[in-house]
Amino acid sequence: MTAPAMAAEFDNVAGWTADAVERLGDRYAIPAACRGSASPAALAWLAEACELSAGTTLLDIGAGVGGPAAWAARRFGVRPVLLEPMPSAARAASRLFGLPVITADGTAIPLGNESIDTAWCLGVLCTVEDKPKLLSEIHRVLTPGASLGLLVVVAQDNQIHNTPDGNHFPTQHELNSLLASTGFTLLEQTTRPDAAPLSWSRRVEEVTRAVAARHRATPAYALAARQGERLTRLFSEGRLTMQLLHAVRRPR
Ligand SMILES: C[S@@+](CC[C@H](N)C(=O)[O-])C[C@H]1O[C@@H](n2cnc3c(N)ncnc32)[C@H](O)[C@@H]1O
Repeated sequence: MTAPAMAAEFDNVAGWTADAVERLGDRYAIPAACRGSASPAALAWLAEACELSAGTTLLDIGAGVGGPAAWAARRFGVRPVLLEPMPSAARAASRLFGLPVITADGTAIPLGNESIDTAWCLGVLCTVEDKPKLLSEIHRVLTPGASLGLLVVVAQDNQIHNTPDGNHFPTQHELNSLLASTGFTLLEQTTRPDAAPLSWSRRVEEVTRAVAARHRATPAYALAARQGERLTRLFSEGRLTMQLLHAVRRPR
């Protein structure tokens, strides 16, 4: 993952988000640290699908600033382990939530075989070029029969142009083949529910405004904003949809 725009979006903005949350207060942390990919309804769907419970080890691959994992820890009592390659994002997750974070790439997970009960990978697949390697690594570290919760941005077809730099959106057909060929059985899928309550979205907006107020003049901010605008346009044109999936790891 080398595109400067991706580093701006996933590293610079991640660090700025944590700074803004520290100024505004802890109640802003989880909504702001769900980096555009989740809402409480989406997280609840994934948590129930994966049957999260107290003590479950939940590996969140591409955890970003850690909002989804922190939400799962607070609501379901899971023991999260975060994996995130971008150093500022990894530091931000650790600063905001005090959760264990491994700074590493999802295509080379530094954990033992069959050591993890459940995994989440939310909004990450489209940012990774070697998707089979990422899913194979997740398969390797999960116990047989374990659940994988995914949030995936799916392309309507292969004719999508002007995508955010570094993003490769799978079609539904490609996603199905990818899961099947890396040892997962897809059990269920739903389109991500849009609505988050105002109490949640207002906190996200306030943190977004605080970040803009301090950083809008920087090149990194402009790059990250352009990524967001491209994504928003593709969604509004109906070229992309956000899907929630529950898969289970088949035995080898
Ligand atoms: C859209 S953000 C989602 C963050 C988080 N999962 C969430 O829902 O809030 C995508 C994340 O995937 C991470 N990522 C990109 N390439 C990755 C890779 N090869 N392995 C693991 N994570 C990766 C990025 O650094 C970024 O934090």
